[in-house]
Amino acid sequence: MIDSFITDQTAELRIDGKTYHLPIIVGAEGEKAIDIRGLRRQTGYITLDSGYMNTGSCASTITFLDGEKGTLCYRGYAIEDLAENCTFVEVAYLLVHGSLPTRQELAEFSEMLGRYALLHEDMIRFFDSYPPNAPPMAILSSMVNSLCSFYPEMTENPYENIDKMAARLLSKVRTIAAFSYKKSLGQPLVYPRHDLSYCANFLNMMFDSPVRPYKIRDEVVAALNKLLILHADHEQNCSTSTVRLVGSARVNLYASISAGISALWGPLHGGANQAVMEMLENIHHYENGDCRKYVERAKDPDDPFRLVGFGHRVYKTFDPRMRIIKKACDEVLETLNISDPLLDIAKQLEEIALNDEYFVERHLYPNVDFYSGIIYRAIGIPNNMFTVMFALGRLPGWIAHWKEMWDDPDWKIGRPRQVYIGPPRRPFVPIDQR
Ligand code: CMC
Repeated sequence: MIDSFITDQTAELRIDGKTYHLPIIVGAEGEKAIDIRGLRRQTGYITLDSGYMNTGSCASTITFLDGEKGTLCYRGYAIEDLAENCTFVEVAYLLVHGSLPTRQELAEFSEMLGRYALLHEDMIRFFDSYPPNAPPMAILSSMVNSLCSFYPEMTENPYENIDKMAARLLSKVRTIAAFSYKKSLGQPLVYPRHDLSYCANFLNMMFDSPVRPYKIRDEVVAALNKLLILHADHEQNCSTSTVRLVGSARVNLYASISAGISALWGPLHGGANQAVMEMLENIHHYENGDCRKYVERAKDPDDPFRLVGFGHRVYKTFDPRMRIIKKACDEVLETLNISDPLLDIAKQLEEIALNDEYFVERHLYPNVDFYSGIIYRAIGIPNNMFTVMFALGRLPGWIAHWKEMWDDPDWKIGRPRQVYIGPPRRPFVPIDQR
């Protein structure tokens, strides 16, 4: 399919007195690429690109983002429209299937999500084996990998069963997340209910208790839908690329997504939302709400500290998701009648950074993780579950990318090359002569 985007233009490359013509590709939204797929075969050279700053690993139809303009679309729809008008389930359907669902399709998909919500009872016993303070992301990653032992039929003919697998994962990851929280509190599990919507069901499993029934509020359900939609995909980020790379070895969807969850855990990626709240709490408790020390530390080249929730590999302006979340943050806190000093600190920090030469020069703006934790906290989700929430949101994106990769006629096992800079070949030294 990518071949239809190859233009008549070429880039010239001169090596060792020879000129090579490399095809130029222009994507659907005008992004330009030099096609180097035949480079090594033709020239004997590879390219070196640490962190894949300039490398397109695939062609994709799922998400488009423009880091210079600060725009983001899933399957051609602006994130602002989706966040305003859709539920997370509709967006999940859009990402996995490529089009927004009709009422009938949405009803069928929602029915499947309800049907698959239970966890095999043997899996529930796994939770008892984790120590009380086990990181929820470790539990989530292991449990998702374990799913393929309980639902092996899904791994035999994965592409044909993708719809079932997608629904099963979306539904069960929600149950796993809520159960791991209940287990960490030592409270009885609250089982999923067929009569509740996706987000309402999750909130009920998290917060209902025999002694304190949970009252589901529409505003809280709406806020959760919005947050999950905003996290649902972000093209070739670290965890999605991990899912694709692992899946490229033709491993099953569960194992690929389990690897993606591990990648997301990192504080430079999805783990940042938890780290932001910890930073804001520290500023509140130990600095009396004064952000300046943290800003100075972030600017100090001898200090490894970074202002968490700032900066992005792709966005060199405001992250569009951040703008929506910031607005939602004000709305949710007002509706729930919560006054959170951390929101004031976050706004103050943003203001200082946006006017500081260091951040301006490097195009460092608040990212999606900067305000999301404040909403999660307002709706009762504890810090150590924030990255699990990110995983729940990112799941449809991971599934869509795995599916696209699996069906790609240009598919190859992911296997980068390297430039070797170790010792040259040398004689072997037997152990008693070393
Ligand atoms: N605070 C202070 N300085 C920063 C920050 C920050 N948050 N982010 C980047 N810089 C500086 C960095 O030190 C470097 O400065 P210099 O040119 O003087 O060496 C310059 O900006 C470029 O940084 P980089 O590390 O080359 O940029 P990158 O594209 O490799 O990294 C990033 C992107 C997101 C990992 C990075 O900005 C960062 O560590 N941010 C904090 C963690 C964070 O909020 N992560 C969530 C990202 S968004 C959601 C997600 O992906 O999951």
